[in-house]
Amino acid sequence: MYDDSGLAEGDRPHWAAALTGAGDMGFMLYRSVARPGLGRADLEAILNQARRRNAERGLTGCLHHENGLFFQWLEGPRFTLSRLMERLRDDDRHVGVTVIDQGRLDRRLFGDWQMRHSDSATASLLEWLAGSGHSEADGVRSFLETIR
Ligand SMILES: Cc1cc2nc3c(=O)[nH]c(=O)nc-3n(C[C@H](O)[C@H](O)[C@H](O)COP(=O)(O)O)c2cc1C
Repeated sequence: MYDDSGLAEGDRPHWAAALTGAGDMGFMLYRSVARPGLGRADLEAILNQARRRNAERGLTGCLHHENGLFFQWLEGPRFTLSRLMERLRDDDRHVGVTVIDQGRLDRRLFGDWQMRHSDSATASLLEWLAGSGHSEADGVRSFLETIR
């Protein structure tokens, strides 16, 4: 099929990606405020639900929880990500969902995780951000690269 296309080698990924969906891979990074009183059991329930649903939807990522804040990195098909963001905004287990960064992604950071969980016992993201001269988006991303 490729040989009949008349396309140069470098042009092929455009429609090959359209067929496989590979070109639609993206990430979404947001911050939110956990509902006051949200406890360990609630967090377990969120992670169990996230892992089950992400496995079905081809999403992977990392949820960092520290000082009543959530930072979540989600990666996978961009359409699926934006659908999930709508659900996340309606979820009353957190408020103030603020997208910090989003875009295309060539390679997943958390391909081995349906949803990695980290907190200040893993490493402090807030201290990392305070000590880095980066923007919030670059700071969170570089932090996640150290814990993945
Ligand atoms: C902090 C937080 C993180 C979440 N992460 C995910 C996630 O990674 N994937 C997911 O499907 N749902 C996640 N959820 C749950 C969604 O908000 C929503 O309840 C769920 O996607 C609904 O799925 P449903 O299609 O079964 O109704 C999260 C919720 C919270 C509060």
